[in-house]
Amino acid sequence: MSRPRLGILLSGRGSNFEAITRNVLNGTIKAEIALVFSNRPDARGIDRARQLGLTCATIASAGADRVEFDRKVAALLTDHHVDLVCLAGYMRILTGEFVRQFPQRLLNIHPSLLPAFPGLDAQYQALQHGVKVSGCTVHFVDENMDAGPILLQATVPVLDDDTVQSLSSRILEQEHRVYSEAIQWVLEGNFRIEGRRVLRT
Ligand code: GAR
Repeated sequence: MSRPRLGILLSGRGSNFEAITRNVLNGTIKAEIALVFSNRPDARGIDRARQLGLTCATIASAGADRVEFDRKVAALLTDHHVDLVCLAGYMRILTGEFVRQFPQRLLNIHPSLLPAFPGLDAQYQALQHGVKVSGCTVHFVDENMDAGPILLQATVPVLDDDTVQSLSSRILEQEHRVYSEAIQWVLEGNFRIEGRRVLRT
């Protein structure tokens, strides 16, 4: 039986992509990586994906029309028969048309306990707000930013001497764990969505 095919979209460093790849290679995630895509041709993550011999594609998004750009990305994912799309530090707001093409097949990870601190610089927002606990969230993507039904969250303490960097790296460690867990859960398909709640079946 053929394994489900992942499409990973990234814009930068790619550490979540690398964690997912490790878990695909060691069999924790029962899937194959069909395509790694970046909207930034010089992203470190896409260099790494190339080094690993994965199928890669890039289209520079700078200055591109949003609807046209997302159509091209969706076409690439479809051409590569992607079953599940994982946003891994993909710093773009997707068009509704794109999102609707991948119902319950589009995941994102965000470095806060949503619905707190959506958008950019979530760890900075958490420090500024003075929360004592933060973390990360894996969620289905809907048409609003950082807003779809939540699959998994992990918490970390915010320490008195934390900087954006120290808090980010504590959260990142959890991101690397929890994203793979959520991906495998979705691939197994033993969930149902009731309203905003994603429940195990
Ligand atoms: C991660 O912290 C991820 O949660 C965040 O970008 C970083 C990417 O790191 N994503 C968002 O803020 C999305 N709103 P990585 O490139 O090393 O995986």
